[in-house]
Formats: sequence, structure tokens, C-alpha cells
Amino acid sequence: MLPVDRELPVAVFDSGVGGLTVLHECLVSLPHEDFTYFGDTARFPYGERSPGELLGFAREIAEILLEEGAKLIVVACNSATAAALPALREELTGRVPVIGVVAPESRLAAAATRNGEVGLIATPATVASGAYERALAEASHGKARLHAVASADLAPLIQVGGEVDRRTVECVERACAPLRGAGVDTVILGCTHYPLVRPLLRRTMGREVEIISSGEAIAAEVERELEAGGVAAPGARRGAYRFLASGDPEAFRRLGTRFLQLPIARVRQVPVGSPGTGPAEPAGAAA
Ligand code: DGL
Repeated sequence: MLPVDRELPVAVFDSGVGGLTVLHECLVSLPHEDFTYFGDTARFPYGERSPGELLGFAREIAEILLEEGAKLIVVACNSATAAALPALREELTGRVPVIGVVAPESRLAAAATRNGEVGLIATPATVASGAYERALAEASHGKARLHAVASADLAPLIQVGGEVDRRTVECVERACAPLRGAGVDTVILGCTHYPLVRPLLRRTMGREVEIISSGEAIAAEVERELEAGGVAAPGARRGAYRFLASGDPEAFRRLGTRFLQLPIARVRQVPVGSPGTGPAEPAGAAA
């Protein structure tokens, strides 16, 4: 059992830069907390990997983060949350609380929908897990219906970090078309990368459709959990942030600085074990 120190950082991880959308909301709500962010960029993307592989990665990263010092872990990746959250929570009971991204979004979507037709855009791994069907059914007491669209390409297109081009626009249009056809009035962004192209998604779905992402709800959950555990940092201080990546640290530094709009001075490379059997890192997508 690790000593729980109020001044230990909150740890946040994702396969790449997507979790920065969650970190951002945490920085807005909890500027006095320290944060450690880990991007598993050497094994990006997670979106087509198997549940067993994602659970293995999540366990390994959780141990790295605990070794670095963490009082709470946020799994800021829907694919990893869908595959690993219940097991990880159970395994780390008594050591550190673990917060994931699927349930808060489902609760927001259940509260937002008026016609009960809720869309989801997520990675193939997240859609295949059925985690959103279960979470939405629970949050809406079985009243809302989920229309899920899997996109293998959108997160990698965002992760490359280039200008939004024709391919990204077409990818978003392809994902949104069946949701428009189904008449959804609410769409869950079921991948933490997607808020980085929110304007494009919003234009494609139109003003009447509510777009749900989980950053703010996660930040509120982190705050509640820290308060409940008596480990919130003292309010009158300014937090410090550290960034770790398993892949190219300079590529992560550049991309992270742009997406977070926060000058990141340094990214430390932390090696991870098995590259797994999933798709290899696409060219140019090192961060
Ligand atoms: N940001 C991740 C998610 O929320 C994953 C994208 C990926 O690695 O494929 O699912």
C-alpha cells in the first residue's frame, strides 16, 4: 500500500494526445493540483486492439504511474476504459482510486436527449466492448437507444496533428451520416481525441444536436474523489505538470503544446514493454 500524500500528482493517461482534452478540463477545475500525463505513443493507436491487450497495457501504465507517484489515476482513453476499467479498479483497490471516461458521458447523454435516440462515435475497440450500451441503459433506465458508429481512422488522423484536410472532413462525414439518418438528437464523442475536432463535428451534425464529451464531468469526478479521500491539495498553490511519453518525446512536446495551448518545456520518454500485436504506429504519428 502506497502512502497517500495530498501533494502527490493526479495521473492521467491515454494512447496519445487525446487524453489532453481531459487533462485540460482538470487544469481548469483544479489549478492547484499537480498532474502527470502519460501518452503511450509508442503503441498508438489503441482503437483496434483486443480487450486483453488493452488490459495488459493499462496495468503496465498504472504501475509506471504509481511508481512515479500518483494519488489517483484517470484512464483518459475510452478504448482502455472500455476494456480495462472494472479490472483495474478492482486490482488497485486500497492503493489508488481509478476514474474512467465512459460512465460520465453516458450520464450526460441520458440527461441531454429529448427523443431518446443517442449517437456514439468511438474506436472499433470501444464500440465492440458494448460498454456504452450498458452505461447508457443504466443511466437512462433503459429509455435511450444507442446508435454506435466505429471509426478506425479518426483518432489516428487527429493524432498526426496536421492541418484538418479533406480526409479528416470525409472521415467525420462518414461517421456522422448514419447518426443523422437515425435522427439522433445527442452524440457522444466516445474517444478523447474527438473534442480536438469538435467544430468540424458540430458543423456536420448541426446546431440541434447536442455533442457530449466527458472532460468537464471527469474533472468534477476527480475533484469529488480527492475531497472524499481527504487528499485534495491545498487550494492556495499553483500546480505543476509533468509529461511522459513512451514514443518520441519531442513529437509529443510539439503536439501537446499545440493541443493543450500550454508551453510544454520537457517530455520524458518512458519505455514500455511489449508493443503488442495491434496495428503499428502510423508514419508521422509518433505523438
Ligand atoms: N483516445 C483514445 C480513446 O479515447 C484512443 C484512440 C486510439 O488510440 O485509437 O479511445
